Amino acid sequence: MTDISSEHNLHTITNGVKAKTDISHIHAFLSAKTGDKWLAAAKDNLPLLMQDHANCEKKAAGTAMNLIFRYEFHRDLQEKLAQLVREEMLHYEQVLELMRERNIAWSHLPAGRYAKGLLKYKRTWEPAGMIDVLIIGAFIEARSCERFSALADVIDDEKLSKYYKYLLKSESRHYEDYLALARSVSDEPIDERVAFFRAVEAQLIDSPDGELRFHSGVPNFT
Ligand SMILES: [Fe+2]
Ligand SMILES: [Fe+2]
Repeated sequence: MTDISSEHNLHTITNGVKAKTDISHIHAFLSAKTGDKWLAAAKDNLPLLMQDHANCEKKAAGTAMNLIFRYEFHRDLQEKLAQLVREEMLHYEQVLELMRERNIAWSHLPAGRYAKGLLKYKRTWEPAGMIDVLIIGAFIEARSCERFSALADVIDDEKLSKYYKYLLKSESRHYEDYLALARSVSDEPIDERVAFFRAVEAQLIDSPDGELRFHSGVPNFT
């Protein structure tokens, strides 16, 4: 069995990244753009950001695993999310390795407000709850993608920058898969619901935030 998180693999990955994946559809999907203030704070706090990134990968896998168990009747969801879980766990291992390489201590970092701020609008009845959680998944993946792309352009750590570019391909597919799954379980168009979460998400990104996290808002701390 190959060691998928081996240094050789990460090395191959980061050396193999050539052009940046086109994510213009992600920019069109999101209504807020990550600002310079967040990027500057992230650049100054990369160890914290990497810890939060690791937590996010693990959480993405865990959330998808829960959906796999909760919605067992949906075959397409099983297939799409099984692949997603595998990829998120691989990312988790890779981020752990990148942290180790940089001598970043492992620390407990509580989650920020972002996911909670979206999930509090999830409807409690089905299939509305399922539709909402899949739409929220699409926004989280899309925002991750937008931030990886923006970070890749500004950080000085070349290997990490290449790694963020490498992530764009899978994270943008995760966004597409979540959105397609949301459409597939709804009898009606989901555009209105997508527009609702787009506004909530943009507000979380554009409003002051006392904590720095991978999906946090405009830095508002000293
Ligand atoms: Fe990921
Ligand atoms: Fe993802």
